[in-house]
Amino acid sequence: MNQVTGCFITFEGGEGAGKSTQINRLANLLRRRGHDVLVTREPGGSQGAEAVRHVLLDGQAEEFGVRMEAILFAAARNDHVEQIIRPALEEGTVVLCDRFMDSTRVYQGVTGNLEPAFTENLERVAVHGVVPDITIIIDVPAKTGLERARKRGSKDSSGPDRFEKEEIVTHEKRREAFRELCQSEPDRCKLVDGMAKEDTVALTILELVEAILPELPSTGAKSGKR
Ligand code: TMP
Repeated sequence: MNQVTGCFITFEGGEGAGKSTQINRLANLLRRRGHDVLVTREPGGSQGAEAVRHVLLDGQAEEFGVRMEAILFAAARNDHVEQIIRPALEEGTVVLCDRFMDSTRVYQGVTGNLEPAFTENLERVAVHGVVPDITIIIDVPAKTGLERARKRGSKDSSGPDRFEKEEIVTHEKRREAFRELCQSEPDRCKLVDGMAKEDTVALTILELVEAILPELPSTGAKSGKR
């Protein structure tokens, strides 16, 4: 275990943006450089949250309405934060999380038409002070993303989940909402062109992460971050 303070990096974007590929690439690279890295995802990532994941993704919660779904995402998130993410950060781990609070802002808040006060309150309770140091938003047109997600679904024969099934206009609205997040929180949220070559996307992400990552003691002085 190294002695640096942890770093919380989240990845966001529409369906089929290429988040998992990029997370794995970044994780391998950071590990080779000597960082302790935890790769996790939402909804899920802890025992309690994984129990809620299938209820949300196979559509069982859909009939109870978007508020119910948002509360379930928040419950899963809080368990994930308290059981897994916060302890890992306290140990100096670099945490790479596939989706986090911004997915709720966009999917339930914007395209679910939930009133901002409701999602803001849920977010506060769910994250309980654990906010990403940087959020990489991988941007692809909805049509391209859905085609990629469809291919992936037919490969692992999982089929589209409750959210992938929605209309293309809804997916386009989400893309816009993610892009707007980068404008409203430019320090935290960084837009990356997901249509670029995989290597180019990986390099862009690495440069963004290097700019905020605390250095390992052997490679330089501690940045004192977090
Ligand atoms: P994924 O594992 O393929 O990313 O699927 C997760 C799905 O759940 C994706 O369609 C986005 C959706 N989602 C929300 O609607 N709200 C959330 O807060 C999170 C974390 C995910």
